[in-house]
Amino acid sequence: MDKISFDFTNKTAVVTGGAQGFGLDITKRFLRSGAKVIIWDIDVKMLDKAIKNINNPNLSIKKVDVSNFKEVENSTNEILEETNIDILINNAGITGPTASLWEYDVEIWKKVVDINLMGTFNCCRSIVPNMIKNNYGRIVNVASVAGKDGNANASAYSTGKAAAIGLTKSLGKELADKNIAVNAVTPAGAKTRILDQMTKEHVQRMLSKVPRGRFLEVEEFTSLVCWLSSEENTFSTAAVFDISGGRSTY
Ligand SMILES: NC(=O)c1ccc[n+]([C@@H]2O[C@H](COP(=O)([O-])OP(=O)(O)OC[C@H]3O[C@@H](n4cnc5c(N)ncnc54)[C@H](O)[C@@H]3O)[C@@H](O)[C@H]2O)c1
Repeated sequence: MDKISFDFTNKTAVVTGGAQGFGLDITKRFLRSGAKVIIWDIDVKMLDKAIKNINNPNLSIKKVDVSNFKEVENSTNEILEETNIDILINNAGITGPTASLWEYDVEIWKKVVDINLMGTFNCCRSIVPNMIKNNYGRIVNVASVAGKDGNANASAYSTGKAAAIGLTKSLGKELADKNIAVNAVTPAGAKTRILDQMTKEHVQRMLSKVPRGRFLEVEEFTSLVCWLSSEENTFSTAAVFDISGGRSTY
Protein backbone atom coordinates (compact mmCIF):
# COMPACT_ATOMS: atom_id res chain seq x y z
CA MET A 1 0.00 0.00 0.00
CA ASP A 2 1.26 3.49 -0.88
CA LYS A 3 1.20 5.31 2.44
CA ILE A 4 0.28 8.99 2.73
CA SER A 5 2.85 11.72 2.35
CA PHE A 6 3.65 14.43 4.82
CA ASP A 7 4.67 17.96 3.94
CA PHE A 8 8.44 18.14 4.26
CA THR A 9 8.92 20.87 1.65
CA ASN A 10 12.09 22.90 2.34
CA LYS A 11 13.11 20.58 5.14
CA THR A 12 16.50 18.88 5.40
CA ALA A 13 16.82 15.61 7.28
CA VAL A 14 19.79 13.57 8.45
CA VAL A 15 18.93 9.87 8.72
CA THR A 16 21.59 7.77 10.41
CA GLY A 17 21.81 4.11 9.48
CA GLY A 18 19.67 4.93 6.45
CA ALA A 19 21.40 2.69 3.92
CA GLN A 20 18.89 -0.10 4.52
CA GLY A 21 16.03 -1.31 6.74
CA PHE A 22 13.96 1.23 8.67
CA GLY A 23 16.24 4.15 7.79
CA LEU A 24 16.05 3.52 4.06
CA ASP A 25 12.25 3.37 4.13
CA ILE A 26 12.10 6.60 6.18
CA THR A 27 14.45 8.20 3.65
CA LYS A 28 12.22 7.21 0.73
CA ARG A 29 9.08 8.61 2.38
CA PHE A 30 10.88 11.84 3.33
CA LEU A 31 12.01 12.28 -0.27
CA ARG A 32 8.52 11.55 -1.59
CA SER A 33 7.22 14.20 0.81
CA GLY A 34 9.58 16.90 -0.47
CA ALA A 35 12.53 16.75 1.96
CA LYS A 36 16.22 16.76 1.25
CA VAL A 37 17.88 13.78 2.93
CA ILE A 38 21.44 13.03 3.90
CA ILE A 39 22.11 9.43 4.94
CA TRP A 40 24.97 8.72 7.31
CA ASP A 41 25.92 5.06 7.46
CA ILE A 42 29.06 2.94 7.75
CA ASP A 43 28.04 0.38 5.12
CA VAL A 44 29.52 1.78 1.89
CA LYS A 45 28.14 -0.99 -0.30
CA MET A 46 24.58 -0.38 0.89
CA LEU A 47 25.04 3.40 0.68
CA ASP A 48 26.05 3.11 -2.98
CA LYS A 49 23.16 0.78 -3.68
CA ALA A 50 20.69 3.18 -2.03
CA ILE A 51 21.81 6.22 -3.99
CA LYS A 52 21.80 4.29 -7.29
CA ASN A 53 18.36 2.77 -6.72
CA ILE A 54 16.69 5.92 -5.43
CA ASN A 55 18.29 8.20 -8.01
CA ASN A 56 16.96 11.48 -6.58
CA PRO A 57 18.96 14.75 -6.57
CA ASN A 58 17.58 15.52 -3.10
CA LEU A 59 19.40 12.52 -1.63
CA SER A 60 23.03 12.48 -0.60
CA ILE A 61 25.05 9.90 1.28
CA LYS A 62 28.13 9.91 3.46
CA LYS A 63 30.13 7.25 5.23
CA VAL A 64 29.91 8.29 8.88
CA ASP A 65 30.43 6.22 11.99
CA VAL A 66 27.99 7.76 14.47
CA SER A 67 30.03 6.48 17.41
CA ASN A 68 32.91 8.74 16.32
CA PHE A 69 32.18 12.29 17.52
CA LYS A 70 34.80 13.99 15.33
CA GLU A 71 33.40 12.35 12.20
CA VAL A 72 29.87 13.35 13.18
CA GLU A 73 30.92 16.92 13.94
CA ASN A 74 32.84 17.34 10.67
CA SER A 75 29.95 15.90 8.67
CA THR A 76 27.49 18.21 10.44
CA ASN A 77 29.61 21.26 9.63
CA GLU A 78 29.82 20.18 6.00
CA ILE A 79 26.01 20.17 5.75
CA LEU A 80 25.66 23.46 7.64
CA GLU A 81 27.81 25.20 5.03
CA GLU A 82 24.94 24.55 2.59
CA THR A 83 21.77 24.35 4.65
CA ASN A 84 20.22 24.06 8.11
CA ILE A 85 19.28 20.68 9.52
CA ASP A 86 15.58 20.51 10.43
CA ILE A 87 15.16 16.82 11.15
CA LEU A 88 17.44 14.25 12.77
CA ILE A 89 16.56 10.56 12.83
CA ASN A 90 18.94 8.70 15.12
CA ASN A 91 18.32 5.28 13.64
CA ALA A 92 21.77 3.67 13.33
CA GLY A 93 22.02 0.68 15.63
CA ILE A 94 23.26 -2.85 16.14
CA THR A 95 21.97 -5.56 18.46
CA GLY A 96 25.21 -7.44 18.93
CA PRO A 97 25.22 -11.20 19.51
CA THR A 98 22.76 -13.18 21.63
CA ALA A 99 24.60 -14.03 24.87
CA SER A 100 24.13 -13.97 28.61
CA LEU A 101 25.72 -10.98 30.34
CA TRP A 102 28.32 -13.07 32.19
CA GLU A 103 29.53 -14.58 28.93
CA TYR A 104 29.40 -11.40 26.83
CA ASP A 105 32.62 -10.24 25.18
CA VAL A 106 33.57 -7.04 27.03
CA GLU A 107 34.68 -5.07 23.97
CA ILE A 108 31.60 -6.03 21.95
CA TRP A 109 29.34 -5.07 24.87
CA LYS A 110 30.94 -1.61 24.91
CA LYS A 111 30.62 -1.29 21.13
CA VAL A 112 26.90 -2.11 21.16
CA VAL A 113 26.26 0.52 23.86
CA ASP A 114 28.53 2.98 22.08
CA ILE A 115 26.65 2.84 18.77
CA ASN A 116 23.15 2.82 20.25
CA LEU A 117 23.76 5.42 22.97
CA MET A 118 26.83 7.49 22.09
CA GLY A 119 25.83 7.55 18.42
CA THR A 120 22.56 9.21 19.44
CA PHE A 121 24.38 11.58 21.82
CA ASN A 122 27.02 12.52 19.23
CA CYS A 123 24.47 13.41 16.56
CA CYS A 124 22.29 15.41 18.97
CA ARG A 125 25.36 17.11 20.45
CA SER A 126 26.54 18.36 17.07
CA ILE A 127 23.19 19.14 15.36
CA VAL A 128 21.05 20.62 18.19
CA PRO A 129 22.93 23.98 18.30
CA ASN A 130 21.82 24.61 14.69
CA MET A 131 18.23 23.72 15.58
CA ILE A 132 18.35 26.13 18.53
CA LYS A 133 19.64 28.88 16.25
CA ASN A 134 16.65 28.35 13.93
CA ASN A 135 14.14 27.64 16.67
CA TYR A 136 13.07 24.59 14.70
CA GLY A 137 13.86 20.91 14.95
CA ARG A 138 12.37 17.43 15.06
CA ILE A 139 14.48 14.61 16.49
CA VAL A 140 13.39 10.99 16.58
CA ASN A 141 15.56 8.50 18.45
CA VAL A 142 14.95 4.93 17.37
CA ALA A 143 15.05 2.86 20.54
CA SER A 144 13.40 -0.57 20.96
CA VAL A 145 11.02 -2.53 23.17
CA ALA A 146 14.28 -4.05 24.46
CA GLY A 147 15.03 -0.68 26.08
CA LYS A 148 11.69 -0.75 27.93
CA ASP A 149 11.36 -4.44 28.81
CA GLY A 150 15.01 -5.54 28.94
CA ASN A 151 15.45 -8.62 26.75
CA ALA A 152 17.25 -11.62 28.23
CA ASN A 153 20.51 -12.38 26.39
CA ALA A 154 20.56 -8.87 24.95
CA SER A 155 21.88 -6.84 27.88
CA ALA A 156 24.12 -4.51 25.86
CA TYR A 157 21.36 -3.70 23.37
CA SER A 158 18.70 -3.30 26.08
CA THR A 159 21.04 -1.02 28.06
CA GLY A 160 21.98 1.12 25.04
CA LYS A 161 18.34 1.55 24.05
CA ALA A 162 17.17 2.26 27.63
CA ALA A 163 19.88 4.92 27.89
CA ALA A 164 18.78 6.45 24.58
CA ILE A 165 15.27 6.71 26.06
CA GLY A 166 16.70 8.53 29.11
CA LEU A 167 18.61 10.89 26.81
CA THR A 168 15.39 11.62 24.88
CA LYS A 169 13.49 12.56 28.04
CA SER A 170 16.27 14.90 29.27
CA LEU A 171 16.93 16.59 25.93
CA GLY A 172 13.22 16.97 25.17
CA LYS A 173 12.75 18.87 28.43
CA GLU A 174 15.87 20.99 27.84
CA LEU A 175 14.44 22.12 24.47
CA ALA A 176 10.74 22.27 25.37
CA ASP A 177 10.58 26.09 25.33
CA LYS A 178 11.58 26.05 21.66
CA ASN A 179 9.92 24.69 18.53
CA ILE A 180 12.07 21.57 18.83
CA ALA A 181 10.58 18.16 19.56
CA VAL A 182 12.66 15.20 20.74
CA ASN A 183 10.95 11.84 20.94
CA ALA A 184 11.86 8.17 21.03
CA VAL A 185 10.12 5.25 19.35
CA THR A 186 10.17 1.67 20.58
CA PRO A 187 9.46 -0.81 17.80
CA ALA A 188 9.05 -4.56 18.20
CA GLY A 189 10.73 -6.93 15.73
CA ALA A 190 10.61 -6.15 12.00
CA LYS A 191 12.17 -8.22 9.23
CA THR A 192 15.31 -6.22 8.46
CA ARG A 193 18.93 -7.32 8.24
CA ILE A 194 19.43 -6.60 11.96
CA LEU A 195 17.66 -9.90 12.78
CA ASP A 196 20.66 -11.77 11.31
CA GLN A 197 22.73 -10.65 14.32
CA MET A 198 20.57 -12.69 16.74
CA THR A 199 19.84 -16.39 16.99
CA LYS A 200 16.66 -17.74 15.33
CA GLU A 201 15.40 -18.85 18.77
CA HIS A 202 15.86 -15.35 20.16
CA VAL A 203 13.90 -13.83 17.27
CA GLN A 204 11.12 -16.40 17.73
CA ARG A 205 10.98 -15.62 21.45
CA MET A 206 10.61 -11.92 20.64
CA LEU A 207 7.82 -12.61 18.16
CA SER A 208 5.95 -14.86 20.61
CA LYS A 209 5.55 -11.89 22.97
CA VAL A 210 3.71 -9.74 20.38
CA PRO A 211 -0.11 -9.93 20.76
CA ARG A 212 -0.56 -8.88 17.12
CA GLY A 213 1.20 -12.17 16.33
CA ARG A 214 3.36 -10.87 13.51
CA PHE A 215 6.38 -8.75 12.68
CA LEU A 216 6.10 -4.98 12.37
CA GLU A 217 6.21 -3.81 8.73
CA VAL A 218 8.82 -1.13 7.96
CA GLU A 219 6.17 1.08 6.31
CA GLU A 220 4.07 1.03 9.50
CA PHE A 221 7.10 2.20 11.44
CA THR A 222 7.88 4.94 8.92
CA SER A 223 4.38 6.40 9.32
CA LEU A 224 4.92 6.98 13.04
CA VAL A 225 8.40 8.43 12.52
CA CYS A 226 7.09 10.77 9.82
CA TRP A 227 4.38 12.24 12.02
CA LEU A 228 6.84 12.79 14.86
CA SER A 229 9.25 14.45 12.39
CA SER A 230 6.64 16.72 10.85
CA GLU A 231 5.49 20.25 11.63
CA GLU A 232 2.17 18.68 12.61
CA ASN A 233 3.79 17.46 15.80
CA THR A 234 3.61 20.73 17.71
CA PHE A 235 3.19 19.41 21.27
CA SER A 236 4.62 15.93 21.88
CA THR A 237 8.17 15.96 23.17
CA ALA A 238 10.42 14.05 25.58
CA ALA A 239 8.09 11.09 25.05
CA VAL A 240 8.40 7.45 24.13
CA PHE A 241 6.06 6.22 21.39
CA ASP A 242 5.35 2.53 21.43
CA ILE A 243 4.96 0.54 18.22
CA SER A 244 5.18 -2.99 19.53
CA GLY A 245 1.87 -4.55 18.45
CA GLY A 246 0.65 -4.65 22.05
CA ARG A 247 3.80 -6.08 23.61
CA SER A 248 5.00 -3.18 25.77
CA THR A 249 1.83 -1.36 26.81
CA TYR A 250 3.37 1.24 29.09
N1 LIG B 1 14.29 -4.42 12.93
C1 LIG B 1 13.94 -4.61 14.17
O1 LIG B 1 13.43 -5.66 14.55
C2 LIG B 1 14.15 -3.51 15.19
C3 LIG B 1 13.40 -3.54 16.38
C4 LIG B 1 13.59 -2.55 17.31
C5 LIG B 1 14.49 -1.53 17.07
N2 LIG B 1 15.21 -1.52 15.92
C6 LIG B 1 16.17 -0.43 15.71
O2 LIG B 1 15.90 0.20 14.47
C7 LIG B 1 17.11 0.80 13.98
C8 LIG B 1 17.29 0.42 12.53
O3 LIG B 1 17.50 -0.97 12.46
P1 LIG B 1 17.11 -1.87 11.20
O4 LIG B 1 16.18 -2.90 11.69
O5 LIG B 1 16.72 -1.04 10.05
O6 LIG B 1 18.52 -2.60 10.98
P2 LIG B 1 19.55 -2.62 9.75
O7 LIG B 1 20.68 -3.47 10.19
O8 LIG B 1 18.80 -2.97 8.51
O9 LIG B 1 20.00 -1.09 9.62
C9 LIG B 1 20.84 -0.48 10.55
C10 LIG B 1 21.81 0.42 9.79
O10 LIG B 1 22.66 1.06 10.75
C11 LIG B 1 23.95 1.12 10.19
N3 LIG B 1 24.96 1.30 11.25
C12 LIG B 1 25.35 0.38 12.16
N4 LIG B 1 26.33 0.88 12.93
C13 LIG B 1 26.54 2.15 12.49
C14 LIG B 1 27.43 3.19 12.89
N5 LIG B 1 28.32 3.02 13.88
N6 LIG B 1 27.39 4.38 12.23
C15 LIG B 1 26.50 4.56 11.20
N7 LIG B 1 25.65 3.61 10.78
C16 LIG B 1 25.67 2.42 11.42
C17 LIG B 1 24.11 -0.20 9.45
O11 LIG B 1 25.16 -0.17 8.51
C18 LIG B 1 22.72 -0.35 8.83
O12 LIG B 1 22.69 0.20 7.55
C19 LIG B 1 18.22 0.32 14.90
O13 LIG B 1 18.53 1.34 15.83
C20 LIG B 1 17.61 -0.87 15.61
O14 LIG B 1 18.19 -1.10 16.87
C21 LIG B 1 15.05 -2.49 14.97
